[in-house]
Parts: sequence; C-alpha cells; structure tokens
Amino acid sequence: MAYLNAKKTVDDRALNRTVLQSLTNALPVTTPEKPVRVLEVAAGIGTMLERLLEWHVLNQVHYTALDLSTDCIKTAIKRLPDWVSKLGFQVEQIGATQFQLFRAQQIVTVQFETIDAFQFVEQEREANQQWDVLIAHAFWDLVDVSALLPKLLNLLTAQGLYYFSINFDGETILLPTIDETIDAQIINLYHQAMNDQHVHNKVGAGTRTGRHLFRHLASANTKLLNAGSSDWVVFPTEGGYPDDEAYFLHCIIHSMRMMLQDQLTPQIRAWLDERHAQIEVGKLIYIAHQLDFVGRVAS
Ligand SMILES: C[S@@+](CC[C@H](N)C(=O)[O-])C[C@H]1O[C@@H](n2cnc3c(N)ncnc32)[C@H](O)[C@@H]1O
Repeated sequence: MAYLNAKKTVDDRALNRTVLQSLTNALPVTTPEKPVRVLEVAAGIGTMLERLLEWHVLNQVHYTALDLSTDCIKTAIKRLPDWVSKLGFQVEQIGATQFQLFRAQQIVTVQFETIDAFQFVEQEREANQQWDVLIAHAFWDLVDVSALLPKLLNLLTAQGLYYFSINFDGETILLPTIDETIDAQIINLYHQAMNDQHVHNKVGAGTRTGRHLFRHLASANTKLLNAGSSDWVVFPTEGGYPDDEAYFLHCIIHSMRMMLQDQLTPQIRAWLDERHAQIEVGKLIYIAHQLDFVGRVAS
C-alpha cells in the first residue's frame, strides 16, 4: 500500500499529457443526471480517481474501482475522506463501499469492489452492465492481456473509450553506472526473469507489454486515438528525492531482488545493496520506459 502511495507522484510526472488530453477531448458531455460511467480495473488504493478529479478530467461521473486485493480496497476507502475534503467535496457514504461526493453542481458516485477482473467480467456480462470508459493503470504487465483485454472491452458501450496508462516497455535504466558490464547483465537477468514468468506460468505479459498493446488493441478491433511514452524518471535534487520517492526507489530495488531470488549470487547481492545505498545518499537515478494509450472500441 505504501508503495502505491509513494508511486503516485512518480506517475503524476510520468503520465503522457497529450494522451490524457485526447481522453479529455473524447469524453462524452455529462450532466448530474447523465454521468459518465467509468470502470477502473486494478485500481489499487484509488490514486487514479483522485488524480482525474484533481486534474478536472472527470466531472459528473459514476466511478467503479475494483481490485483483487482486499487491503488495497480497504486503504482506498480509508484514504477517501481526506482527499475529497481537500478537493472541496462534501461526502456521503451510501453503503460499506459506495460514496457520493458533492461539489457545487458536481456529483460523483464512487463504488469500490474487491474482485478479480476475470471474475468481474463474467459477473457484469450476465448482468448486462455497460461502461463508457475503461481504465487500467500500471496493470497490463501483470496479466495475460490476450485473455482479459477482449472481455473487458466487451463491457464498453458502442464508441466506449479505453485509457491504459503506465505500461512497462522493456527499458530499465539505473544511474550512476556501477560497472557497465555487470549493470547490463543484471538488468538483462531481471527482464529475463519477468519474461520467463510469463512464458512458463502465464503470469504477467512480459517486459514488452507496452509495444505489444498496439497489436492487442488492433486485434480487438479498437480505434487508437493516441499513444505516447510515460516513462518514470526518478531523480534527486539538492533537497533529495521529493515526497516518498526514496521509498519508491527502495521498493523497485527490492522487487528486482525478489525477481532474481533464485539466482542471487554474492555479486548480485552486493550490486543490489549498493543500489539501496545510492538511494540513501541521494545518488540513484531510475528510468523505466512505459507507454500510455487511449482509444475507442469500434461500433
Ligand atoms: C502495480 S499495482 C497498480 C495499482 C494501481 N493501478 C496504481 O497504479 O496505483 C497492480 C494492481 O493490480 C491488482 N491486480 C492484479 N491482478 C488483478 C486481477 N486479476 N484483478 C484485479 N486486480 C488485479 C493488484 O492487486 C494491484 O493492486
């Protein structure tokens, strides 16, 4: 949970603004009586909803945020009163997981749900539920895209929109260089471990999820409106790292350790320890290449 909280400012900087603008331009006109219906899968602790309201991308909206993790949804619910009041909303809790937010003429309904996206798709299909916008943020590299994407797109109305942001695309850069050859070897092993997970256990979509989405979206017969890079670029300034970004970096190095756990030689251990030490002294720079997409289902 702390990782997703720390990731928020990194994502805020990274999100591709022209792609986001294309989403904003394509959104339907709404009224309090006819809000746009948004479904976010794998919403984590709800930071995308916070951001889209804070940045005035969404106005009158019925927002369903689901995640597999009970802890994530619990945290999303716990965070809500604080950020809604900062944004000047009055809040009314309707049920255990549903809220209505009011600000002048604006009405926002938020529904949280703890559920696996695959299960959600089956449930909603039976209920004939439809959505105007589908959002998935930092998600597609975690699942089998070809198995889930067409099913989720089927939940959209004719002309429904999708916004898929922060899709990892195979480039991890850590600076300063420790040793050019060893750095490259360890990054390769790290990427290889992610790809092996995908090939052998069908976990995740591999390191090139971003570029493969072009193909998946075309096969699903969607119309791409815009795409662009949304690289994470985390760097220290004179005051160190902003917000919780030092913690975010420790999490990234820790996730590399987890991914490489079956092949942790003394050399790799020492390298990972040195990366943690670089964070402590405000020296580490981290760049991850990612892509954002916005488009429509074909009617
Ligand atoms: C990297 S986190 C991103 C969370 C959020 N979108 C964000 O960026 O803050 C990935 C999220 O996907 C969720 N997740 C993974 N597989 C899922 C599935 N099959 N259905 C629903 N959620 C899933 C995890 O619980 C986790 O919260």
